[in-house]
Amino acid sequence: MMLIGMNLLALLTFLQLASGMLVMDSEIPLKKCRYFEDRKYNLNQVLCKDLKLLDIPDNLRSNVEVLDARENRIRELRNNSLKRYSNLRFLYLADNFVQTIPEGAFESTYYLEVLDLSKNGLTDLPKSLFRMNNLRNLYFEENQLHDPVFEVTGVTAPLKWLYLSGNKLTQIPRLSPIPLVTILNVSHNQITRVTTEDIAPLCLLEYLDLRDNPIQFDQKTCECYTFKEWIKFRKINLNMTVDCPKNLQKKCAFGQHVKPEMRFSNRTMTLFSSCQAILKTRAEAMKARTTWIWIASCVGAFIGCIFIALCCMHRNNRNKRRHLKEQNILTANNANTTEQLLNKETKHETA
Ligand SMILES: *[C@@H]1O[C@H](CO)[C@@H](O)[C@H](O)[C@H]1NC(C)=O
Ligand SMILES: *[C@@H]1O[C@H](CO)[C@@H](O)[C@H](O)[C@H]1NC(C)=O
Ligand SMILES: *[C@@H]1O[C@H](CO)[C@@H](O)[C@H](O)[C@H]1NC(C)=O
Repeated sequence: MMLIGMNLLALLTFLQLASGMLVMDSEIPLKKCRYFEDRKYNLNQVLCKDLKLLDIPDNLRSNVEVLDARENRIRELRNNSLKRYSNLRFLYLADNFVQTIPEGAFESTYYLEVLDLSKNGLTDLPKSLFRMNNLRNLYFEENQLHDPVFEVTGVTAPLKWLYLSGNKLTQIPRLSPIPLVTILNVSHNQITRVTTEDIAPLCLLEYLDLRDNPIQFDQKTCECYTFKEWIKFRKINLNMTVDCPKNLQKKCAFGQHVKPEMRFSNRTMTLFSSCQAILKTRAEAMKARTTWIWIASCVGAFIGCIFIALCCMHRNNRNKRRHLKEQNILTANNANTTEQLLNKETKHETA
């Protein structure tokens, strides 16, 4: 009886263990990130999408360049969260619960180009983000970001695309300088006012999405017409119609032949030309760099040629010397033989 009881107990334990293993088994495949190499762009990618992750995995291959961990439950990025992944260039973390990012979070990801943190709970961003040397595209849609987060000067990141729709902005972001920005998406915010001076510092701007904002232009000045005129002058895609006060139409009309300097405020033109000046300096620096690289290559090639020439000469000399030595030996040998022969002959003679 007792034996049966014990057996039953063992069986029960076994069943429990087995069912436990089953649960674990069903969770393991879920928690596995998948690697694949992108043939087209030749990038090391890892896909960790929708795995109920609470953190960025710390045991991935350290050479990953693309990390896709969208749709998880990641609550925070820490200083060491990305430490291992110093080759990272694309980081997708949309649809998580990230609320805070410390200043040091991106310290080791020097090559980061694209960062997607859309649909998180961000209220702030580390200022260090705007000093990342390769960062060009930022996606922070549907967070809780407000104006002070973007009141940053001394920006060095080569930002091109800024997707900030669905935040709590009340003005155009005051990041500066950001001369390379071509897309600024601030739709669905709480922006109440926008002037030419807000967008003049973005001298390469092509797309400006301002939809779903409670924008109110000043009803007494030509602000609205001037803004419209700037959009036209700069050929910016606005994707919406701006309705300016009808009663000001006559007062604010611009003649076709009026120069931009007369149509827009001095401040607007100054901001715009500062941006262009930065672009010019960048282009010149780039040109200087390519010139230096070219010169360095030429010098390198020249030194290489000299080296090869010296090698050839050295080999020639060595061959010559060897040849001379051989000849010497030959002559010496010849002399010896003659001497011997002579000796022989004299011996013969004496004999
Ligand atoms: C994270 O790094 C930043 C900058 O390197 C540092 O100021 C901060 O104290 C660090 N935070 C923690 C929690 O270690
Ligand atoms: C701006 O973002 C919104 C929301 O994501 C999107 O619907 C819209 O197409 C975007 N506009 C542009 C110009 O990319
Ligand atoms: C703008 O600049 C022009 C000349 O550059 C000057 O004549 C004019 O007074 C300035 N306007 C304002 C409002 O500063």
